[in-house]
Amino acid sequence: MKVSDVLKNVKHHVIYEALISSISTDGEPDIAPMGLRFSEGFEEFTLHPFKSSKTYRNLVEVGEGVANITRDPRPFILGCIPGLKHELLKELEGSKLVKAPRLRGSEAYIEFRVKEVGEKSINRAEMICEPVSVYLGDLRIEPYSRAVYALIEASVNASRVKVFLNRSRELLKILNGISYAESIVRRTGGGSEYERLLNLLIKSVEEILHGISSSQSNP
Ligand SMILES: Cc1cc2nc3c(=O)[nH]c(=O)nc-3n(C[C@H](O)[C@H](O)[C@H](O)COP(=O)(O)O)c2cc1C
Repeated sequence: MKVSDVLKNVKHHVIYEALISSISTDGEPDIAPMGLRFSEGFEEFTLHPFKSSKTYRNLVEVGEGVANITRDPRPFILGCIPGLKHELLKELEGSKLVKAPRLRGSEAYIEFRVKEVGEKSINRAEMICEPVSVYLGDLRIEPYSRAVYALIEASVNASRVKVFLNRSRELLKILNGISYAESIVRRTGGGSEYERLLNLLIKSVEEILHGISSSQSNP
């Protein structure tokens, strides 16, 4: 099936957030949230992985991956910081056609082959990917909640803290982003699983920040 048959409402020019699962040449699986954008006819999609990411290395070396589509914020939180990822790695299972695994319980899967690897910037690659198998998984119906979208925003910002540790202006913007998202999650999802995920994320961010202050105080 084609992307447009399975994901009937996807739009051009929109960046969608998905979980990209991949595998190393040694057979070690990985998964990380990444943005993807479809081409005009939905025959291809583009990824922009940081060249420092495992996902980039695996996709270049093995040439295959899976875009796991889900509206559940949990895998975005657990996948965006290496220290939280172990739980999510246990939820990977075999895919249909590619060597890379897929994330159990996702709403849809796009198993793909990497067609072209170019450069977006010094740090980021541009990868053109071609779907080889697209199919539905487990449908998840949940009304809009600001807590979910705020969690996704918090996770994007949290994944960048380490990268911008030494750039105070960017770091400040990132921390302000997390703090705004935090206020929304506490207000609209206080006491819920979403607040628990937020707390995990904030704890990880604090640990990363604490890393700088301890290295500054012990040069
Ligand atoms: C919603 C969301 C979108 C993200 N999009 C990208 C992206 O497009 N490219 C990228 O390199 N990292 C992106 N990240 C950050 C990576 O997920 C993060 O750096 C992760 O630790 C990379 O893991 P890996 O080294 O195992 O590949 C995103 C994070 C989140 C939460």
